Amino acid sequence: MKRICERICLVLCLLCGPAAAQDVPFAEPPYPSENHREPMLLALGDLMGLAQSRHIKLWQAGKANYFQLVTYEAAKLSDSLYRAAMLYTNLPVPLIKAADEALVRITAAADKRNAADFQTAFRDLTNACNACHRAAGLDFVKIKTPTSSPFTNQDFTPPR
Ligand code: HEC
Repeated sequence: MKRICERICLVLCLLCGPAAAQDVPFAEPPYPSENHREPMLLALGDLMGLAQSRHIKLWQAGKANYFQLVTYEAAKLSDSLYRAAMLYTNLPVPLIKAADEALVRITAAADKRNAADFQTAFRDLTNACNACHRAAGLDFVKIKTPTSSPFTNQDFTPPR
């Protein structure tokens, strides 16, 4: 029962938070469902690889003060973590929430166009990634603030 409540709480928290994923106008998911956030079949490690890419893009967008992109990437990363939580029910809810809360603060910083708040929240996000890895016995998967990005095929320059 407690688990069910925690799951419901988590779903509500993630759905209502500002960092919740947004629907794009012309991309319907390929599965017939009322709930567009239903998990697709993906291994946890695959989702984490995606989270890692989005962690870099989020940092790169923040570094460029490209706040519209920050909001978008934060929602995408939130979506990856949400799918991980739905797919792997035994992931510790407080540790997922810690990451999501940091993402909510990142979105709030983007709304205010506040680079300092972005940096603090991004650091907390990275700490939340590592807290869960440590809890999962994966202290050797150490996430850190990126120093460069492999995404040379995407323009991170904000419009003037
Ligand atoms: C709630 C727990 C949790 C949170 C939060 C979390 N992870 Fe993970 N992560 C895991 C677990 C569990 C694995 C091991 C998955 C496996 O090996 O199948 C993992 C594995 C990984 C891996 C190794 C996968 C690979 O392909 O190399 C990377 C990279 C990773 N996480 C990045 C991140 C990033 C970046 C964040 C934060 C934005 C994050 N994770 C947040 C639980 C978490």
